[in-house]
Amino acid sequence: MYFIANWKMFGDLRSLNSLDKVIKFSKSNKINKGRLIYCPPYTLIRSFFKKFENCQIDIGGQNCHESEIFGPYTGSVNCRMLKNIGANYVIIGHSENRKNGENNKLINLKIKNALKAKLKVIFCIGESLNQKKKNNTKLILSKQIKVGLNKIKYKKNIFIAYEPIWAIGTGIIPKPKDLFDTVKFIKSKFKDKSQKVLYGGSVNPQNINELKKINNINGFLIGAASHNSKKFIDIVKKTYN
Ligand code: 13P
Repeated sequence: MYFIANWKMFGDLRSLNSLDKVIKFSKSNKINKGRLIYCPPYTLIRSFFKKFENCQIDIGGQNCHESEIFGPYTGSVNCRMLKNIGANYVIIGHSENRKNGENNKLINLKIKNALKAKLKVIFCIGESLNQKKKNNTKLILSKQIKVGLNKIKYKKNIFIAYEPIWAIGTGIIPKPKDLFDTVKFIKSKFKDKSQKVLYGGSVNPQNINELKKINNINGFLIGAASHNSKKFIDIVKKTYN
């Protein structure tokens, strides 16, 4: 199981101390088969990388520019730059970036260049509340997958993160049966039956007991609860208890 901490725009140098607990936990047998990945803001990637040097925790970026090479793009960072400072993963297509104008085509370009830069991709998809109410979830997800992964043959390094927009930061999670069915639907879009699909949206130490029972999910993308090391560790521990 994968446990990915998406810190969004939270954290500064003081946050590094809070990672000691997680490092200790990652070296214990309590971690079981859990794989931990932290996606801090760009400003902290190098510091996290150094902090995690002697443990198995991986680092990812939260987004990237679509250009493969350096260029005049103020404020942007590309995948090679992320790789260069120690990231192995990158989140692409998060709804918080889609909201700011990222479309499926642009996401496709970003994914291609991330793979070229030898990063693993956490590819976010998900429907809005309105789309869900109109019964358009499957249609939306199909389009996001089709265009987002257009002309990408080798998908072993792509993790799908199903994040319904209405579940992000709201404390609401999908009904277990709905979530199982949606993850099954997403997996049915792939020839490779081992395609990994993660769930994200309000995952916390309370609802993990319910979420872990949904047995086709391969891990979790965790926002708010991941800023707190104790909560993050609790989520991992409870998944295996
Ligand atoms: P929350 O866990 O804060 O709902 O955020 C989920 C998310 O967007 C992870 O990418």
